[in-house]
Amino acid sequence: VSAEPFGVYVHIPFCARRCDYCAFVTYVGVDELHGRYVHALLAELLAVQRDQRIPPASSVYFGGGTPSRLEPALVDELLVAIPRLQDCEVTLELNPEDVDPARLAAYVASGVTRFSLGVQSTSPRVLEELGRVHAGEDLTSLAATVASSGVASWSADLIVGAVGERDEDLLASLEAVVGGADRPPHISCYLLSVEKGTPLGRHPERHPDEDVLAHRYELVDAYLGAQGYRWYEVSNWSLPGHESRHNQLYWSQGSYLGLGCAAHGHRGGERSWNVASLTTYLKRVEAGQSPRAGFERTDEHSKRFEALALRLRTRRGIAAEELGDVAELAGYLVECEGRWVLTRSGRLLANEIIQRVDAAMASEEGGGAHDH
Ligand SMILES: C[S@@+](CC[C@H](N)C(=O)[O-])C[C@H]1O[C@@H](n2cnc3c(N)ncnc32)[C@H](O)[C@@H]1O
Ligand code: SF4
Repeated sequence: VSAEPFGVYVHIPFCARRCDYCAFVTYVGVDELHGRYVHALLAELLAVQRDQRIPPASSVYFGGGTPSRLEPALVDELLVAIPRLQDCEVTLELNPEDVDPARLAAYVASGVTRFSLGVQSTSPRVLEELGRVHAGEDLTSLAATVASSGVASWSADLIVGAVGERDEDLLASLEAVVGGADRPPHISCYLLSVEKGTPLGRHPERHPDEDVLAHRYELVDAYLGAQGYRWYEVSNWSLPGHESRHNQLYWSQGSYLGLGCAAHGHRGGERSWNVASLTTYLKRVEAGQSPRAGFERTDEHSKRFEALALRLRTRRGIAAEELGDVAELAGYLVECEGRWVLTRSGRLLANEIIQRVDAAMASEEGGGAHDH
C-alpha cells in the first residue's frame, strides 16, 4: 500500500563561521553542545511519538546551519531513531570544509542517500565578498569525493548576484560545477537575498542589483538547460529522476515533522514551529517541556493561495482549466500539456505573477468578489 509521503526535517544550528548573507538560525563556537543537542532532538522525537502516530518517513532532511559539523556517530543515533521507509531519501547539507572520504562514507553507512554541497561560487573574490569560510577549494576533487562516497544522489548550491561578481565568475562557477567528470545530478541556484540583521543587510553598497540578478538568472537557466538539467522549481534544476523528494513535499503542501530549534512542521492543515533559540530549546526539552513556540491553522483563502504559489513555482504548474483568460500574462506563462507553467521571465517575477493569477482566479470564480 503506498502511503502519503511524510517528511522529517532536522535542524542542525552549528557553523564554523557565519557567512555575511545568512539569516538561518545557527551558532558559532558552541561545538561542545553537539552531543547535548542531538540528545534533545531524540527526546523531542520520543515525546512527539508518545502523543501521535508518526508514519515512517519517505524523506529526512538534515538542514542547517551545517549538519556536516556533526560527527557521523551523532547522525547515526538520529537515523536509528527516526522511523523510515526502506527507500527513504535522506539528505544532509554538507559544507566544503567537511568533505572527507571517511566522514562521507560513515554518513552513507548510517543511511544518508543524498548530500547537498554548499559551493556558492568557485571565485575566491566572490566567496570573500559573501563572507564564506572556504576559499574555493578544488571543486574537481570535492566532487570526486562526494560522487564516490556511495551516495545515491547529490546536489550543489550556488548563490548568484554578489556585488563584485561578473558574468565570467558565474560562468566559471557553472563550468566548474557541471563541466567535470563528477557533475552533481541536482543544482540549486539562489539569487542573493538581502536579509535583515545580517552584515550584508547593514551595507547597502553590497546589495545586489535587481537587473543584474535577472540577467544572471537567465544565464544560469540557459547554461544548465544546455547541459541537460531541467528546472523543476524556480531555484532548482536536476537531471531527470534526481528531483529532491523532500523539497517536492514542501511544494505540494505535504506533511512533515520539524525537529530542533527553529524547525517548522506541517500536519493535518496545521503549521507549527519551535522556539528559535538554541538555549531555550535545550532548556525546554531537557525539562520535559515541548519546544513548540506556536502554530496556526490556515484559512481557506490563504491555503488556496499558498497552494497556488507553491505549485506555480514548480514545473508542474497549474491545470489549464483552473485559469481561463491569461492573455494579460502572455510571455510569463506558457501552456504545456494542458497546464500553465511559468516561462523564464515569469519565474523571475514569480511572486508578482502568482498575485495576478490569484486575482484572475478569484474574479473568475466569484465575479470579482472574494468570499471573505
Ligand atoms: C541552510 S543554507 C546552509 C547550507 C550550508 N551550511 C552551506 O552554507 O552550504 C542552504 C543554502 O541556502 C542558500 N542561502 C542562504 N542564505 C542565502 C541568502 N541570503 N541568499 C541566497 N541564498 C542563500 C545557500 O546557497 C545555502 O547553501
Ligand atoms: S550559509 Fe551555511 S555556513 Fe554560512 S552561516 Fe549560513 S548555514 Fe552557516
